[in-house]
Amino acid sequence: MTIPAFGLGTFRLKGQQVIDSVKTGLELGYRHIDTAQIYDNETEVGQAIAESEVPWDELFVTTKVWTSNLGADRLLPSLEESLSKLRLQQVDLTLVHWPSPNDELAVADYLTRMMEARERGLTRAIGISNFTIAHMQQAIDAIGAENIATNQVEVHPFLQNRKVTDFARSQGIHITAYMPLAYGKVMQDEVLKRIGEAHNASPAQIALAWLLQQEFAVIPSSTKRENLVANLAAQELRLNDDEMQQIAALDRNDRLANPGFAPKWD
Ligand SMILES: NC(=O)c1ccc[n+]([C@@H]2O[C@H](COP(=O)([O-])OP(=O)(O)OC[C@H]3O[C@@H](n4cnc5c(N)ncnc54)[C@H](OP(=O)(O)O)[C@@H]3O)[C@@H](O)[C@H]2O)c1
Repeated sequence: MTIPAFGLGTFRLKGQQVIDSVKTGLELGYRHIDTAQIYDNETEVGQAIAESEVPWDELFVTTKVWTSNLGADRLLPSLEESLSKLRLQQVDLTLVHWPSPNDELAVADYLTRMMEARERGLTRAIGISNFTIAHMQQAIDAIGAENIATNQVEVHPFLQNRKVTDFARSQGIHITAYMPLAYGKVMQDEVLKRIGEAHNASPAQIALAWLLQQEFAVIPSSTKRENLVANLAAQELRLNDDEMQQIAALDRNDRLANPGFAPKWD
């Protein structure tokens, strides 16, 4: 199974705002939608999908199991609730949203349950998110790298997460870059602005092109039609080696998603 390289994020978007963003995205050609149980918007994402004219088999929908639902009694029922909210019989991809806080639950246990969810047909593929190298190693030992469709982690020009992405690559695990625009911060960067000028493109488009060129999937979010259009168009850009290097030099370990229960980062 391949994950479409360009997806639409929905974190923080609620109510009519998420309905509008997803509907507009689908109309513009986005076919991969990224939601999560904790975003509290699966019902609205489901409504937007149902009201769009896109045939369901052209869509790729990802959801993520929240940490409180990783236990034996909650994982499958919680995914069934997600499907009912999304009005789908199956999602394309289900991720473990974060490793169990303080490793209270064992990676092997909840990933075995994720495999069961796949076997039961609730999801076509399973994956992980916010997994460190140590967690990835445990995941590989438990279910094999071939069963891990992606590790969705924060990657953007200011947090390039090289140790994690290099390890994932060495193990054949695909990476999905979340917060690819550093939540809009890329727009202020002088280097990205200058490279953008050479391509008649915005810093956001340059950041996305830089990620796509490294074969990461990207899932930017936007509430604005013009930004949704512009982001999709970043797929047409091609950066040269010098530009790729200049962006590589912007790395400054600027992590934006770092809740108290986060694992010990690499
Ligand atoms: N697995 C995880 O733990 C995790 C954590 C965080 C995020 N995610 C996923 O990753 C997705 C993306 O992250 P994110 O939404 O936090 O941040 P993001 O996509 O990096 O940035 C979104 C911000 O950038 C702005 N923006 C979008 N396109 C733009 C453009 N072309 N020009 C200028 N500004 C632009 C948006 O504002 P406008 O609305 O005004 O366009 C919004 O404020 C999330 O929605 C979620 O699906 C996953």
